[in-house]
Amino acid sequence: MSSVVFDRVDVSVPVPGQDRKPLLTGINLELTERRIAIIGSNGSGKSTLLRLINGLVTPTSGQVLVNNLGTAAKGGKVRRLVGFVFTDPLSQLVMPTVLEDVELSLRAHTHRSQRRTVAEQVLERFSLLPLAEQSIYDLSGGERQLLALATVLAVDPEILVADEPTTLLDLRNRDKIGRLLAGLPQQVIVSTHDLELAADADRVLVVDQGMVVFDGAPGEAVSFYRQLATAEVPR
Ligand SMILES: Nc1ncnc2c1ncn2[C@@H]1O[C@H](COP(=O)(O)OP(=O)(O)OP(=O)(O)O)[C@@H](O)[C@H]1O
Ligand SMILES: [Mg+2]
Repeated sequence: MSSVVFDRVDVSVPVPGQDRKPLLTGINLELTERRIAIIGSNGSGKSTLLRLINGLVTPTSGQVLVNNLGTAAKGGKVRRLVGFVFTDPLSQLVMPTVLEDVELSLRAHTHRSQRRTVAEQVLERFSLLPLAEQSIYDLSGGERQLLALATVLAVDPEILVADEPTTLLDLRNRDKIGRLLAGLPQQVIVSTHDLELAADADRVLVVDQGMVVFDGAPGEAVSFYRQLATAEVPR
């Protein structure tokens, strides 16, 4: 079973001429459930929290442990365990064509002679095979988001972390990704503004102003978040 532990984690950044700006404060979590969603308003700290899981951000104080490996000291090992899907697919798609991007992702895992065949199987699984030879710049936003997920899942990470994986998707593709995430054998941790996607999780964290303000079942978490958002309107 995979586990992600946040142990008294604070993250802050320096601001010239001022006090450090806190991004996350006092995060204590033990995440062992298979499906975890993080919801909260823009700028609340969701992406920062996810980035801590693969060591893209390291704590200013405290520690994050992935399967007992500290992300600060063991970043390389942690990143081999954690597949990370960014909100902006273009930040992780680098090759000229769709097929080449999946092949690149397979480089360290699949022998060269097998790479094309395996890459085509991955594209088939995501219904992207007809676009194999297309430039990543000529894909729609949703197709790019699917491809970004496909390239990360191609190497079968132990934990999948996805930052708003359905943001750009139409209803059909959103449902497809929702079903795909629900059916994955690995632990999946997503941040999302898609409250239906959050409703499928085993556990939902609500983040507000850099703190986890609710942690529990999806229905209660979504109601909590709705109340928080309504209360914030006059601000
Ligand atoms: N490296 C950084 N330096 C300064 N401020 C930062 C840095 N990274 C994030 N922030 C700030 O921290 C806050 C939280 O950012 P984060 O990206 O985690 O929010 P979020 O909850 O993912 O928001 P969204 O829903 O808009 O994606 C924001 O105010 C952001 O501007
Ligand atoms: Mg974000």
